[in-house]
Amino acid sequence: MADQPMPDPADYPWRTVTRAPAATRALGAAAGELLRGGEVILLEGPLGAGKTCFVQGVGEALGVTEEVISPTFTLVNSFPGRLRLHHLDFYRVEPDHDLADIGVPDLLDEVLDGAAVLLVEWPVPLRPELRGIPRLELLALPGPGPDDRAWHLRGEPAPPAAWQTLFAGEATQC
Ligand SMILES: Nc1ncnc2c1ncn2[C@@H]1O[C@H](COP(=O)(O)OP(=O)(O)OP(=O)(O)O)[C@@H](O)[C@H]1O
Ligand SMILES: [Mg+2]
Repeated sequence: MADQPMPDPADYPWRTVTRAPAATRALGAAAGELLRGGEVILLEGPLGAGKTCFVQGVGEALGVTEEVISPTFTLVNSFPGRLRLHHLDFYRVEPDHDLADIGVPDLLDEVLDGAAVLLVEWPVPLRPELRGIPRLELLALPGPGPDDRAWHLRGEPAPPAAWQTLFAGEATQC
């Protein structure tokens, strides 16, 4: 379960801030515009940090018409769009859970073929499956104001330049 400590923001070289849900959604949409297919994006951050809000923006940019809600109980939601969006949430998954029984290897194959993207909330149980697979990682942290969210970015390998630019400096939308 998701009671492990948060990653250290000092390990994430890029950072931007949103100050309202609409701004987070806009940030997600801007990130979604950068997606080419094949991306794996891990979303860390405490309950209510805005991870799902960000994914909603990504969905908007991908032309997803269905409502994107957190798959906390279903674990996986998949949406057709310009690229297929697989939205995972492992908050209720034990770190040693066998992810094959929820189809994770097949999802990863589809993503790595380039026709889909994978966005994962509470990704700790997935990390062992990702050895050698490039990924972008976001850490959302609240504060200091009630609607402030700091978005920290890192990547393995380093994120493309456009991602670095998007996550450098304060978001001014909304
Ligand atoms: N700047 C902001 N960005 C995103 N959400 C915000 C912001 N300010 C306030 N909020 C509120 O914080 C909440 C974020 O909820 P969201 O479901 O996106 O979080 P989450 O990180 O996915 O949580 P969980 O771990 O429970 O899935 C919403 O109630 C939203 O209205
Ligand atoms: Mg969520």
